[in-house]
Amino acid sequence: MGKNNTLINLSNISFSYPSKMNLLNDLSFTLRLGDRVGIIGPNGCGKTTLFYVIMGLIQPYEGHVEICGKIRVEEADFREVREKIGFLFQNSDDQLFCPSVREEVSFGPLNFGIDREEVKKAVKETLRDVDLEGFEVRPPYDLSGGEKRKLALATILVLKPKILLLDEPTIGLDEETVEKIIEILNEPDLSYIIISQNREFLKRTTDILYTINNGEMKEMNI
Ligand SMILES: Nc1ncnc2c1ncn2[C@@H]1O[C@H](COP(=O)(O)OP(=O)(O)OP(=O)(O)O)[C@@H](O)[C@H]1O
Ligand SMILES: [Mg+2]
Repeated sequence: MGKNNTLINLSNISFSYPSKMNLLNDLSFTLRLGDRVGIIGPNGCGKTTLFYVIMGLIQPYEGHVEICGKIRVEEADFREVREKIGFLFQNSDDQLFCPSVREEVSFGPLNFGIDREEVKKAVKETLRDVDLEGFEVRPPYDLSGGEKRKLALATILVLKPKILLLDEPTIGLDEETVEKIIEILNEPDLSYIIISQNREFLKRTTDILYTINNGEMKEMNI
């Protein structure tokens, strides 16, 4: 962890796509331990791009990405970041690649060297949490949009990360599942950033709300 319990510190980040100049423009932002942050804003304002910068999926042209007290530059730095931060892609198809639901949810914990019996138990519990019991042998590509979303969430939650970046977690989810997700997010000890267009959901899960305006983070009223 960094100074003052800083988990993520972005300083003076700038990034453009060829078609979108100054998408992120001298953007600075800090996530501290226990912070629960929402980001809302127009389509195309750079929300997903911001997450990609934090996860090292794109490199900013300028500025520093500091995570858990270390400036992250190389791919190896970000591999460590991806172990610390549970990242939900906006599009579930970007997240799912295994032949069955069970393998999909087991993949992360097995990869981290967790004992097989323990993984089995965690997978069972997590599938119950997202209401996907009975789906274990189904191929992920056969699932409905909402079921894929639940599965993508399960692949993250099974690892019990303390830091979460969730890009539109409620898209396509039924009310009952949204309530379960709210319950999980309201557990203590979590720090997160949630991108969502769902204000009600953000009201119930976050304490501070931002938008991205002209490439910078601007605080908004919740
Ligand atoms: N790989 C890319 N190449 C070129 N332009 C891109 C690329 N990815 C995104 N863009 C453009 O950059 C802008 C920001 O994209 P981004 O995905 O960060 O927006 P967003 O705020 O997450 O939007 P949404 O609410 O629709 O998810 C958009 O105008 C998009 O068209
Ligand atoms: Mg997006």
